[in-house]
Amino acid sequence: MEKLDLRLAAAAEFVKEGTVAADVGTDHGYLICYLVNEGICKHGFATDINIKPLESARNLIKEMDLEEEIETVLTDGLVGLPEDEIDEVLICGMGGETIIGILEKAKWVKSERVHLVLQPMSRADMLRRWLCENGWDIDAEKAVEVEKHLYTVISADYIGGSESPDDIFCLTGKLAGQDDDYAIKYLRWQANIQRGIAFGLLRSEKEKEHALVHIQLADMIDEMADETEEDR
Ligand SMILES: C[S@@+](CC[C@H](N)C(=O)[O-])C[C@H]1O[C@@H](n2cnc3c(N)ncnc32)[C@H](O)[C@@H]1O
Repeated sequence: MEKLDLRLAAAAEFVKEGTVAADVGTDHGYLICYLVNEGICKHGFATDINIKPLESARNLIKEMDLEEEIETVLTDGLVGLPEDEIDEVLICGMGGETIIGILEKAKWVKSERVHLVLQPMSRADMLRRWLCENGWDIDAEKAVEVEKHLYTVISADYIGGSESPDDIFCLTGKLAGQDDDYAIKYLRWQANIQRGIAFGLLRSEKEKEHALVHIQLADMIDEMADETEEDR
């Protein structure tokens, strides 16, 4: 098996030992095969909504002789999986909105027993907000860069209740203050996105105040990155 790329390796680092994992949208099956093969997970479910990617996961599972340990399921998200058995839910390589949709349809994941590892390809801000508002504590994040794209990997535990995170937290999550090159790069990138939004809004006189909000956010995020760099 090829080595995991940085994105999937970061996800694997957050997976708790001895768990039963569901790798949702498994595609090639690299992540779940790695986790079970390394003995990090004692059992796994590899799911995909499309048959072709699921077949490629099945091929890898067979090649690695993991058919006893990993079950493949053609399904939408977590639908139909044995909820009492799974204590680790991995959803990587999908948009933030799709990840939210999958979690919303599986009420059983709202449990202190179930740990989430999520790697959104887009709208990480929306996902962070949704997690906080729906009872999850984002306990850790790791930023990675793959083929010039920056991503975050989120680790979250269900604690119940509902928190209203501020905009800065939604944009930077647990990457703020991390003395790590990719985390700092991620912050700078988020600041630039906010500046870009402000720039667009400034074309219209009536959006000036709105634009200032985004400029303030960009300045605050840059300051956070500056402070981390100065403390080095
Ligand atoms: C870009 S691939 C990501 C593969 C792998 N998880 C990774 O991060 O490298 C996205 C996969 O998710 C699957 N997918 C998309 N929506 C899904 C859903 N609602 N339920 C299950 N699988 C889904 C797609 O068929 C595709 O195989």
